[in-house]
Amino acid sequence: MRFPCLLPCSAAVLSLAAPLGSRAADTPRYLDTSLSVEARIDDLIPRLTLDEKVGLVHANGLFRSGGVERLGIPYLWTDDGPQGVREEVGLTSWTPLMRTDDFATALPPGLTLAATWDPELAQACGKVIGEEACIRGKNVILGPGINIIRTPLCGRNYDYYGEDPWLSGRIAVGYIKGMQGEQTVACVKHFALNNQETERGFVDVDVGERALREIYLPAFEASIKEGGAMAIMAAYNRFRGDFCAQNDELLDVILKGEWGFKGGVISDWGGTHDTKLAVTHGLDLEMGSRGKFEDFHMAKAFRDGVLNGTYPMALLDDKVRRDLRMLFASGAIDGRKPGSLNTPAHLKVAEQIAEEGIVLLKNDGGLLPIDTTKVHSVAVIGEDAVRKFAAGAGSAGVKAFREVTSLEGIIARAAKTMNITYSEGYRQPEVHFAAKADIAGVRKMEVIEASPEEAQALSDRAVEAAKASDMVIFVGGLMHRARADDEGSDREDLSLPAHQAELIARIEAANPRTVVVLIAGSPVEMGQWLPSTPSVLQAWYGGSEAGTALAGILFGDVSPSGKLPCSFPKSMADTPTGQGGARAYPGVDHVVHYDEGLLVGYRWYDTKKIEPLFPFGFGLSYTTFAYSNLVATSTGPASATVTCDIRNSGSRAATEVVQLYIHDGHASVERPEKELKGFTRVTLAPGETRTVSLDLNARSFAFYSPEKHAWSVEPGSFSILVGSSSRDIRATTDLSIAAAATVN
Ligand code: BGC
Repeated sequence: MRFPCLLPCSAAVLSLAAPLGSRAADTPRYLDTSLSVEARIDDLIPRLTLDEKVGLVHANGLFRSGGVERLGIPYLWTDDGPQGVREEVGLTSWTPLMRTDDFATALPPGLTLAATWDPELAQACGKVIGEEACIRGKNVILGPGINIIRTPLCGRNYDYYGEDPWLSGRIAVGYIKGMQGEQTVACVKHFALNNQETERGFVDVDVGERALREIYLPAFEASIKEGGAMAIMAAYNRFRGDFCAQNDELLDVILKGEWGFKGGVISDWGGTHDTKLAVTHGLDLEMGSRGKFEDFHMAKAFRDGVLNGTYPMALLDDKVRRDLRMLFASGAIDGRKPGSLNTPAHLKVAEQIAEEGIVLLKNDGGLLPIDTTKVHSVAVIGEDAVRKFAAGAGSAGVKAFREVTSLEGIIARAAKTMNITYSEGYRQPEVHFAAKADIAGVRKMEVIEASPEEAQALSDRAVEAAKASDMVIFVGGLMHRARADDEGSDREDLSLPAHQAELIARIEAANPRTVVVLIAGSPVEMGQWLPSTPSVLQAWYGGSEAGTALAGILFGDVSPSGKLPCSFPKSMADTPTGQGGARAYPGVDHVVHYDEGLLVGYRWYDTKKIEPLFPFGFGLSYTTFAYSNLVATSTGPASATVTCDIRNSGSRAATEVVQLYIHDGHASVERPEKELKGFTRVTLAPGETRTVSLDLNARSFAFYSPEKHAWSVEPGSFSILVGSSSRDIRATTDLSIAAAATVN
């Protein structure tokens, strides 16, 4: 296949389209900005040759497709990813180009963002990435990643928005709006059911209709219907036998049919397997990195099929229209905003996300915030304290313009007032892959670990440092480099690598005034050391200003307000996937059975009455909050407004995330014990009280009826539960709901 335009940059083509104001009367209608985009596309499609059309529906570079130079239609440039604009790689090679102009702001990953429970901040996050995408010439950003956390072992959990569909949906909608407001198309991924990395390329997901509709799809649905996302990425895995990129039920029936999606369905890279199925089951743009571009399923084979009448031209035209919509939406044809890169304002957003996302898991004895008038020396211990994380973890990695480590943040904040020492303590294993694959296509993996003697010496030195200081800040956790929180693989268990649990126990014996900070995008086991640890912070991965944000929390410049977006189990044995055996995870004979159905995350722990280590929605503060006057007022047959007074009953200004769950005690079908249906952040000065208000609609009370193929509300009394976490309900009331005529 001949590619219509081989210029490396859309700028050359853009210049054809730039001086619109001065166009003469014979300006083609597709360049007339006074017309609607649809009218312009109506004019443009008939002008395209078959080759040009086919050129728009498959890649002609790792992150590039389309381009029709003779008509002034630029390439469509996509790029990862959810945490910031990825560094430049070759047109056909993944090798980084080592440029100096592709450093970007590293926004904290998805789970950190979700831990803020702050959709407005998610919008600011999307805006930052959108602005950076503009200046970097990217039309589509491959994010947000919104797959539900089903197993704590999934390597990509750190990149997603947690275990709850409502929270995930709110964060996603904010992010998408912020990004698309900057003429950058958001590509929501991975649609759908990519809930594990093990066998992600082919595992077939067997999930019931209710779990599909109530757990795994709502965040995607909100992204399309409310967020207006113009692109969606089909997942690698299979669903009910068909790969997601060629899945009629997901793409045609649900996404385009029921939800009215008008944008483009993009395959995950190399996730297309069959021309006929891809072409006829809803895929609009095939991307990937395998083979020659003309050999793509939606390249020559598609063109030949149109020519010999296998595929109607209208089918191709619909895909072209959707891909052109992405180009128009990103300003590619009419000119884009200039954008901006690495500005102080961008870094501030990164810092705010990191700060709001940090979760205080435990604080017995008031070790935090650190009192600089009493603490004169601190030993910072742990390899994670000096590592940077933005560049790791596969496609979501960002070449950070700036990344402040935990140690740097602590030094910048406190070195003037106290003596700070550092000790490495442990060394995580480093995983390397051979550059070349063997004859079977497998790249040899080599794991480099500290020898037992080295490990002992590191541990001994850390214990000495702990003894010599007033207090210890132990910074441990996981590391992408050690293949934890990483694309393409799941963890084997929940343990902290490199014998950190033993080390923490030794350090605490040497100095009980120890704060543990966890840098990890997933839960880890804590049983061995938690009972004797006074203070624990879950700091996730924090992006460009990770260390700055951490120091602000440690030293009390701001009170923690993050809440867990996923449950932390005590052990794998307590989790639904842990109890379900191999068929539940990672699957048997390449099929994974979601036997737990609706009972994902806290829905499982609450319904099965299993106590998690830390529950969904949990997070302490340096102050306390009192809840009172909960009132639920009907506003229609199946809608209500819920109000509650929140008072800061402590002595520090702080923010609380007020959470609203419903409990359906009268359902004729299985319902989880409780389900999140609303939340809001409220910032209060000491002693201040505010009334928060949350709206519920018919969907808040509904379950999906597979028999009716529709959402259904059963009339009766629902419990309204308002609290500080899913297991810290502070006020309850009942609300009578009538059947809803329609539920959207
Ligand atoms: C990932 C996607 C990513 C794409 C392009 C795939 O391996 O699953 O999330 O956007 O690569 O880098």
